Amino acid sequence: MRRKFVAGNWKMHGNLVDNDALLTGILAGIGEVRAEVAVCVPFPYLAQAKAKLAGSKVAWGAQNLSQHAKGAYTGEVSALMLNDFECKYVIVGHSERRALYGESDAIVAEKYAAAQTAGLVPILCVGETLEEREAGITEQVVGRQLDAVLNKSGVISFANAVIAYEPVWAIGTGKTATPEQAQAVHAFIRAKIRALDAEVAEHLVIQYGGSVKASNAAELFAQPDIDGGLIGGASLNAEEFLAICRAA
Ligand code: PGA
Repeated sequence: MRRKFVAGNWKMHGNLVDNDALLTGILAGIGEVRAEVAVCVPFPYLAQAKAKLAGSKVAWGAQNLSQHAKGAYTGEVSALMLNDFECKYVIVGHSERRALYGESDAIVAEKYAAAQTAGLVPILCVGETLEEREAGITEQVVGRQLDAVLNKSGVISFANAVIAYEPVWAIGTGKTATPEQAQAVHAFIRAKIRALDAEVAEHLVIQYGGSVKASNAAELFAQPDIDGGLIGGASLNAEEFLAICRAA
């Protein structure tokens, strides 16, 4: 059976005091969780996450990285810097990065490759906008986003990566994809990978993201191709996040 994996995406939330309380709360309840769990925190709090979580069942990671190894890139953070803080994961190509910061499929593919080169596990986000869904081109869009990475890094790279399917219209909107809607796209993604490498597809963790809550997690995670979730808003509350983790 594939492992289940739930990751929190804190986005641009938190401060030293609140983070400490949140991580303390998560650690207090993590014993009852069977799924693998991680939190992806803002860069300035990586040291705090490492200090608090080292030796626990909770992994940590970042939400973005530079595609460049080093150099004159003011404000950017490299994969090797993330390694200094012993990150395991890094989110790549989140729809907010794509939409608000102009990250193209090509840039996302470079970031994915940079993460893997440094030994980080990328959580590659893909997903369609409402307009694209209504135009009936969801698979075309998700397929194109995957192709950019497949063409650069190859299917075998997915042996060390996680995919998060996040329909843009479901992120932070309270509008969750139905389990059937999500499952259909997850199955499409796995089939696309399977066509290239059956073994890689079988073990590939594909998370669902977009308004996952304690109240809807179980039915989403019960779908055959949904292997956990990437959790935004609900990951900022320890009890809610733990309930989602227990559902996986
Ligand atoms: P949400 O965000 O759970 O707040 O919808 C998910 C994400 O953007 O990763």
